[in-house]
Amino acid sequence: MKKIAVSLALAAAMALPVVALANGNPQTKSAMTANGCFACHAVTHKVVGPAYGWVAYTFAHKPGADVKLAHKIISGGAGRWNAWTGGIPMPPHPQLTLAQAEQMADWVLAQKPIAPPKP
Ligand code: HEC
Repeated sequence: MKKIAVSLALAAAMALPVVALANGNPQTKSAMTANGCFACHAVTHKVVGPAYGWVAYTFAHKPGADVKLAHKIISGGAGRWNAWTGGIPMPPHPQLTLAQAEQMADWVLAQKPIAPPKP
């Protein structure tokens, strides 16, 4: 049943045209919830991983950021946020297609930018 729900959420996210919505596409947010992203991330504060607002701030106006972040979401890994996370890596998400991961990266980048606090 959970698998079906996840597939439906992903199918819904994929069927949508890529549009820039003020706070990110709500269907993409549902797909992120279904894939457990919010277990480790919140928009305004660190959970296990960096706040999405910090990511939006760091990558604001950087061309190609969504593709770069999409690859990181699929492959996982640590490095950029070690000072805040203590070096905990993001697990890989091989179930996502590059297009799905790009939509998620776009959702993250559409959040209100927040300057990361001093680690
Ligand atoms: C088990 C915890 C965990 C889960 C689940 C998780 N993340 Fe992460 N995420 C992290 C950590 C830790 C980092 C910091 C990695 C680093 O230091 O480079 C991170 C980093 C990121 C970044 C920033 C990458 C960068 O290079 O700056 C994005 C974007 C991101 N995650 C999106 C997602 C999305 C989308 C999902 C769901 C598909 C997800 N995360 C699921 C822990 C998690």
